[in-house]
Amino acid sequence: MNGQTSDDRVAAPGAAETEETRSVLPRIDPASVSRPRFAWADVPRYFRDPLGYLSRVRREKGIFARLPLGPVTPFLISDPALIEHVLVTDNKSYKKDLFIQMLAEEAVGRGLLTSEGDFWRRQRRLAQPAFHRERIAGYATTMIRCAEAYADTLALGQERALHRDLMELTLHIVAQALFSDDENIPTQEVGAALDVLMERYADNLLLAFPVLRRLPLPINRRFDRAMKRLDDIMLSLIARRRERGGGHSDLLSMLLRAQDEDGSRMTDRQLRDEVITLFTAGHETTALALSYAFFLLSQHPQVAATLQAELNAVLGPGPLLRLPSFADFPSLRYCEAVVLETLRLYPPAWIIGREAATDTTLSGVAIPRGAQIWMSQWVVHRDESLFAHADLFRPERWLDGLQKRLPRFAYFPFGGGPRLCIGNSFAMVEATLVLATIARRYHLRVLTPPPLSLLPSITLRPRDGFLARVEAAVSTVAKGA
Ligand code: HEM
Repeated sequence: MNGQTSDDRVAAPGAAETEETRSVLPRIDPASVSRPRFAWADVPRYFRDPLGYLSRVRREKGIFARLPLGPVTPFLISDPALIEHVLVTDNKSYKKDLFIQMLAEEAVGRGLLTSEGDFWRRQRRLAQPAFHRERIAGYATTMIRCAEAYADTLALGQERALHRDLMELTLHIVAQALFSDDENIPTQEVGAALDVLMERYADNLLLAFPVLRRLPLPINRRFDRAMKRLDDIMLSLIARRRERGGGHSDLLSMLLRAQDEDGSRMTDRQLRDEVITLFTAGHETTALALSYAFFLLSQHPQVAATLQAELNAVLGPGPLLRLPSFADFPSLRYCEAVVLETLRLYPPAWIIGREAATDTTLSGVAIPRGAQIWMSQWVVHRDESLFAHADLFRPERWLDGLQKRLPRFAYFPFGGGPRLCIGNSFAMVEATLVLATIARRYHLRVLTPPPLSLLPSITLRPRDGFLARVEAAVSTVAKGA
């Protein structure tokens, strides 16, 4: 992957953090992206179907377009070199977009995802060691143990709410791996609160008319209650840890111990913002990747069979496949390719936004301070000029060095540049090992037929979840083998 050796495969797929190469910017005619005459013209079209709308804009208006979607008329850039320029080369001219600012203001506060400047840099430095390679090897044991415990709850012939199940599973993993606290976290309540959060950020009326967010409407009251509940859960996690004191070496302890040069420590509020961010960013996205992977495997029996053959080869000889371990990760190449291809077709983070923090230019186009720039993984990952047969699910495409040949930001499920997802390696290892652990025992046949009805919110969710039937894996496996 991206020039890495197989030992090195815990690094990020797609866009790396370094600035070793800069792509040549395409030529853009500034007149083609001037302010539209009717600033609101496309609002109904966007709100009816954001994914379809953005894909259509890419097809009809090209790689640099200005969208008549209200007073801010955002730019949509859909070219890897342009995206690299915004996220890496000229990243200092940008901050997070209006949408993320809104999320910060009313939900997650100043956590890693939403904070800016020196404060963000300090917090990122503090949190980074928790995501180092050696740490991830340790978390892998937790990931496999939790996945096996989940597989133990499955029975042949059962029908399961798969997305809900996987959300719980990935929440347990984050709670144990990063916060050494699991049994005290009411996962169902956290899941329900996050549903309310996602519902709010998929509600187009609230987004278009922010004033509605302050009225005593049922959706606002539901949201306030959900956030209050999340607050209580996260603050009691922090309080428990403060009471129990040292003895832990997890992320929460690192944050608790962290001290500024002036001796001040993080307040409960700051800790709450980080913890809530890591819980939300750290489990929903991976649960989605796994849900879509099971959906795609159900639609592509040949891919499922190839995956099974790899599991037999790596964890066999069958029929009693052993549990995977972190040491197997480099050998589970097809399994990882299934995850990479799933993240291409159904990127859980389907769009990234930035706001120009200062006047700047992008390929000769003046970008005034305050302008919003949108970059959509959904659009770029399905671009036929970047991926042959872009709409087809073909994990094989990742097996022959495609990552090295692709322009740097043709594939960016985890973003890139300084704000690259801190959990990217965690997520890749987690999705690959959880998939292997479950698939060695069961085939989870998703019964929801295509085309999927999707809910683009902060993440890209299946609107109605996924119903899945538990079937035997191709090889029979003894429990706990
Ligand atoms: C498949 C799973 C995941 C996907 C697709 C994903 C995607 C992303 C993307 C695209 C960004 C960058 C947003 C931007 O530039 O505006 C991001 C940031 C972030 N992600 Fe992830 N993520 C995943 C898993 C995780 C996990 C497992 C964790 C933590 C355990 C995590 C924690 C974060 C944090 C804290 C940030 C903000 C980083 C910063 O700005 O310093 N993510 N993620």
